Amino acid sequence: LAPRDLEGLRIAISAGGTREPIDPVRYLGNRSSGRQGVALAAEAAARGAEVTLVAANVAGDVLAPAQHPSVRIRHVGTAAELGQAMAEAAASADAIVMAAAVADYRPVEVSPRKLTKEAGGIPAIELAENEDIVAGLVRARRDGQLIVGFAAETPGTEGDQEELLARARRKQQRKGVDLLVVNEVGWERGFEAVENAVIVLAPDGAVAATASGSKREVAAGILDVLRPLWTGSRG
Ligand code: C5P
Repeated sequence: LAPRDLEGLRIAISAGGTREPIDPVRYLGNRSSGRQGVALAAEAAARGAEVTLVAANVAGDVLAPAQHPSVRIRHVGTAAELGQAMAEAAASADAIVMAAAVADYRPVEVSPRKLTKEAGGIPAIELAENEDIVAGLVRARRDGQLIVGFAAETPGTEGDQEELLARARRKQQRKGVDLLVVNEVGWERGFEAVENAVIVLAPDGAVAATASGSKREVAAGILDVLRPLWTGSRG
């Protein structure tokens, strides 16, 4: 039986990958399935937390494990929608986990009609930068609120772990998150896969834990690091 060690914790979790429309049928997206964020929601709920899961383009079968009376699911498509939903959820959350893969850029103009080859030439898609959602959540942080970011990183040359960790620590600093979950990704690893392996960086940048196995096991490892940092105050 799962311990109820997160009873009373209100946690907002984002999962999946945003899609930035180009025209009515095309988008800029990424390969995030949402499985790790869904596993976090399921594990947190099983341990007694009240969860808001902001799901960006997560398929129904992937979302199934998060069906739990303590999980409220909000569906979003774009980065802007995800940012809005997370800001709302964050207003009454003790902890925030940004597991979603957010598009860094969006097309400046969304064509109201499907782009067609008949127009001739190769279309140029002008991009604008999306806001860094987690950095915004850090700026709006409530007292005692814990904020967890993810970093999907491809390894450096020769799979250099130290280089990867140094890059991750810079990201942790830049974003101002408390914990950073470092996820090594590649063509076969991390995204879409059933299994995962992560390194969790503590607020001071030290390695707090490593976790691997099913995404549910990885979720448990991440929440084990978060749990003692939560003061339990609802201030
Ligand atoms: O910089 P990078 O995209 O690797 O950072 C990943 C972390 O930042 C994740 O937690 C992701 O959800 C978050 N992020 C965000 N807004 C963006 C891009 C990433 O909140 N526009």
